[in-house]
Amino acid sequence: MSSSKRIAVIPGDGIGKEVIPNAIEVIRASGAPVEFTAFDWGADRYLSDGITVPPDGFQMLARDFDAIFVGALGDPRVPTNIHAKEILLNMRFKLDLYANVRPVRLLDSSLCPLKNARPDNVNFTVIRENTEGVYTNMGGSFKLGTPDEVATQEDINTRKGVERVIRFAFEHARATGCRKVLISDKSNVMTFAGDLWQRVFKEVAQEFPDIQPQHMYVDALCLQMVREPRALEVIVTNNMFGDIITDLAAALQGGLGMAASGNIHPGRTSMFEPVHGSAPQIAGKNVANPMGAILTGAMMLAHLGLNAQAQKVENAVLEAVRAKKTTVDVGGPLGTRECATWIAERVAK
Ligand code: NAD
Ligand code: IPM
Ligand code: MN
Repeated sequence: MSSSKRIAVIPGDGIGKEVIPNAIEVIRASGAPVEFTAFDWGADRYLSDGITVPPDGFQMLARDFDAIFVGALGDPRVPTNIHAKEILLNMRFKLDLYANVRPVRLLDSSLCPLKNARPDNVNFTVIRENTEGVYTNMGGSFKLGTPDEVATQEDINTRKGVERVIRFAFEHARATGCRKVLISDKSNVMTFAGDLWQRVFKEVAQEFPDIQPQHMYVDALCLQMVREPRALEVIVTNNMFGDIITDLAAALQGGLGMAASGNIHPGRTSMFEPVHGSAPQIAGKNVANPMGAILTGAMMLAHLGLNAQAQKVENAVLEAVRAKKTTVDVGGPLGTRECATWIAERVAK
C-alpha cells in the first residue's frame, strides 16, 4: 500500500482551471508524496448534465481523500450561482469545515499598497467561522413581487458553532506563538448574536491565560487593518465579516492573487482554496496570478504533515516575488504558466 496522501482536486470554474493545474505542478516539483484525483464539478458539468455534486460526492471526498484542493466556483452562465452554493458552500457545511483559516502575510514591501509597509508589519491570521451565520440560507420572502414584499435573511449562531471556532482560534494562536486573539463583531448592533459570541469568547479565553483576549468592532477593525496592521495577530469572526475582511486583507498582501486559505475541521478531510474567485474577465488568458493557489497548496502540505515540502514551496514563492518573476497584477512580466514554472523549477532545485 502506498503511503502517499490522497488529494481530491476540484479546479472549478474560470481561473480556477488555470491556477490549480499550475499549483499542482509546483507541489509535484516539491517531491511531496501526494496523489491527485481530479473532479470536473463546476459550471461546465452543471450546464451539460445538470449535476453539481454527484450522489454521495461529499461522503466520497471524506472517505477516500486526505485533503481537497479547490480552485474557484462561479460562472456568468449560471446567474443563480446554484452550482457554487451546492459545491463550495455545501462542501464547507456537509464536511463541517468550521474554521476558515486565512493567513495574511506580506511577502515583500513592494506588494503592499500601504506606505512604508514591511513584511513584519503585516502578518496576522483571520479565523472565519465557516458553517453558520448568514450563509445558512435561512429566511424567506413574503408577498414576493408586490409593493408589500418582505425579505428576511437569518443570522444563525449556535453555542456549539461559536465555541468551537473561538477555541480553534486560541489553539491556533498558541500553536503559532501568537500572544493575542481578537474577536471582531458588531455586538453594538447585532446584540443577540454579539452577546453569545462575547460571553463564549470570555469563557474560552480563561482556558488560555497565556493569550490576551481583545475585542474590536468590525468597522473599526477595517480602519485598523489599513492604519496599523502590525498590532494584529489572530482575529476570530463570523462567516460574513470574515469573508469581507479577508478581501481587504488580501489587498494588504498584493491583491486577491496572493491570498491563501484552508477550510479546516481538525482530524477530518479538510479543503484548501485560494481566497480569490473565478475572475471570469481574465479567465483563459494566462494572466491570473497562481501564487494564491500555490501558497494554498503549501498550506495543504503543511496540514498533511509535509512541512519540509511546504517550506520549500513558500520559499520559492518568496524568491519569485523578490526576483519579480510574477504576473502583471503584482507588477511582474510573466503569465500564469511562466510564473508557476519558474517557481516549480526553484522548488525542484
Ligand atoms: P474574484 O476574486 O473572482 O475577482 C475580483 C477581482 O480580483 C477581479 O478584478 C479579478 O480579476 C481579480 N483577481 C482575482 N483573482 C485573481 C488572480 N489570481 N490573479 C489576478 N487577479 C485576480 O471575485 P468576483 O469578481 O467578485 O467574483 C467572480 C466569481 O467568482 C463570482 O461568481 C463569485 O461568486 C465567485 N467567487 C468564488 C470564490 C470561491 O470559489 N472561493 C471566491 C470569490 C468569488
Ligand atoms: C469566499 C467567497 C465565497 C464566500 C462565495 C463565492 C460564496 O467569497 O470564499 O471568500 O462568500 O464564502
Ligand atoms: Mn470572499
